[in-house]
Amino acid sequence: MNLVEIKKQAIQEINGVKSAVDLEKLRIKYLGRKGELTSVLRSLKDLSEKERKKAGKEANELKKEIEAVISGRKSEILEKELKTKERKIDVTVPGIKVLQGHLHPLTLISRKIEETFQSMGFKILEGPDIETEYYNFDALNIPKDHPARDAWDTFWLKTKNQKLLLRTHTSPMQIRFMEKNNPPFRIVVPGRCFRYEATDAFHSHTFYHLEGLMVDTNINIANFKAVIGEFLRKIFGRETEIRIKPSYFPFVEPGFEVDMRRPSGEWLEIMGAGMVHPNVFKAVGYVPSDWQGFAFGVGIDRIAMLKYKINDIRLLFSGDLKFLNQF
Ligand code: FA5
Repeated sequence: MNLVEIKKQAIQEINGVKSAVDLEKLRIKYLGRKGELTSVLRSLKDLSEKERKKAGKEANELKKEIEAVISGRKSEILEKELKTKERKIDVTVPGIKVLQGHLHPLTLISRKIEETFQSMGFKILEGPDIETEYYNFDALNIPKDHPARDAWDTFWLKTKNQKLLLRTHTSPMQIRFMEKNNPPFRIVVPGRCFRYEATDAFHSHTFYHLEGLMVDTNINIANFKAVIGEFLRKIFGRETEIRIKPSYFPFVEPGFEVDMRRPSGEWLEIMGAGMVHPNVFKAVGYVPSDWQGFAFGVGIDRIAMLKYKINDIRLLFSGDLKFLNQF
């Protein structure tokens, strides 16, 4: 058959077809690997270059035309089938089970932690994931070239005018909040943090912090211990074993680290904390001798790991349904 005959016959047959199955048979007959049009395209190689170009163009145009006719006919057939099916509902066919989603373990634990702090009068705030160098470091008493910056391996962003970064902790929100508000207050700030560091069972490049800050005229370490004790008791119950060790963070003085006992008996660091450094109060325009406060940054992922007995932080970010369906 030549192209004119193929066109005439194909269009006639396609328009006469009544079912999607027969239509598919016709598609194969004309456009399939061994179809009529495909054979014409294959035989082009025997022609001279000039003839091949001309015939090739015509054959390809016809291919597109036949495809369009098939697609149009398919819609007509489907529409017709749908209309007749609607009138024939088989009520005995079993229904399709609706799959129900559920909250991610990190969302579950964050909500519990937030509720706990709310019950102690803390307000919940959020801050930006992308921060300036000033809020993430300078205002927190970590000047440029200070070796303490090495404690936070940072993802810097390529920007022209301003040095921007993915926040390495939620502590910048201490500054953002205090710049606009006066004490007394108590706030917590949950949020995502990023660090340019290798991952292992307890470290991820992306993880969650909950920053806490309480400032008033007469705040001391005993207040911090009471608040943290209440928080851990509400999340874990009475049996929680913790230890508080001295540590160094430039934005607090004194600074400490809180560890919690894992089921295996080993200690796991859950937060950094301390009494707000006078330089931080100065950076936000407070008179340091008028105020005291404590601040802490707790690793939400670590709390989830301890609460739900998860031995590898990477599971939390894996999207693995075998893991997630247990919650
Ligand atoms: C800080 O980032 C301080 N901003 C915390 C702080 C706030 C101190 C206020 C004093 C006052 P640190 O780098 O230690 O501290 O992180 C705090 C907690 O986050 C750690 O105790 C740990 O529980 C968790 N954490 C730190 N790095 C990772 C990581 N890569 N993956 C998962 N969790 C992490």
